[in-house]
Amino acid sequence: MGNQIKPSQTDQVITSRHSMRGFLPKTVERDLIEQILRTAARAPSGTNMQPWRTYVVSGNALTRLSTAVLEAHNDPEFKRDPRYKYYPDQFPEPYLSRRRKVGWDLYGLLDIKRGEKEKMHRQHGRNYQFFDAPVGLIFTINETLEIGSWLDYGMFLQNIMISARGHGLDTCVQAAFAPFHQVIRSQLNILDSEVVICGMSLGYADMSRKENSLVSERCPLHEFASFISE
Ligand SMILES: Cc1cc2nc3c(=O)[nH]c(=O)nc-3n(C[C@H](O)[C@H](O)[C@H](O)COP(=O)(O)O)c2cc1C
Repeated sequence: MGNQIKPSQTDQVITSRHSMRGFLPKTVERDLIEQILRTAARAPSGTNMQPWRTYVVSGNALTRLSTAVLEAHNDPEFKRDPRYKYYPDQFPEPYLSRRRKVGWDLYGLLDIKRGEKEKMHRQHGRNYQFFDAPVGLIFTINETLEIGSWLDYGMFLQNIMISARGHGLDTCVQAAFAPFHQVIRSQLNILDSEVVICGMSLGYADMSRKENSLVSERCPLHEFASFISE
């Protein structure tokens, strides 16, 4: 505890994380997944409640889950029903522009143009194949827990992504799973009292895929930080 570690290394690991949307068919050993999750669970949480619950899916179970969610995604009659609201109904600026920018940057790399709804739908559907990753994670939280625990949850998720990076692995966290919680619930036997927050793809990134060259922008420091000293 309290040992000094090289800040530059930590910063490099953090800044080397980018959402990857194409993975190699290379196995991730169970021991390594366990180690990453144990490390991630060192995340702080209000009164140490540790509100996270993770389902680690691979092999046939991943194929089954993927197939079931993809089927729902492709069914125009399927009622999407997220149990929580990630986004507002209307996006105020500057959020609307940022959101559009990253979306069009991604579609640009994939040569998807405005109005190409079918291509967009197919690309969105790649979420449910965990972008070909060998490991899919599904995250739930008990329905009784409040917004503070959701804050804790974000720290756990970020820890997974950073720990994975330290082991040469990549990730993509995916809220796209939330509206399909009924399907996921029945596939993984998740209790009704658990809210499906999101999923995450975990594996070795396929850097030959164009979408993985996306480096999303960040606004300059002065736009989000105020230094007050007098
Ligand atoms: C909670 C959360 C949910 C997300 N859901 C999705 C998703 O469903 N599909 C996807 O492709 N990316 C998803 N993303 C990735 C974001 O688009 C990405 O983090 C953002 O554009 C910044 O890019 P970066 O992660 O490469 O830095 C999600 C990110 C977060 C934090």
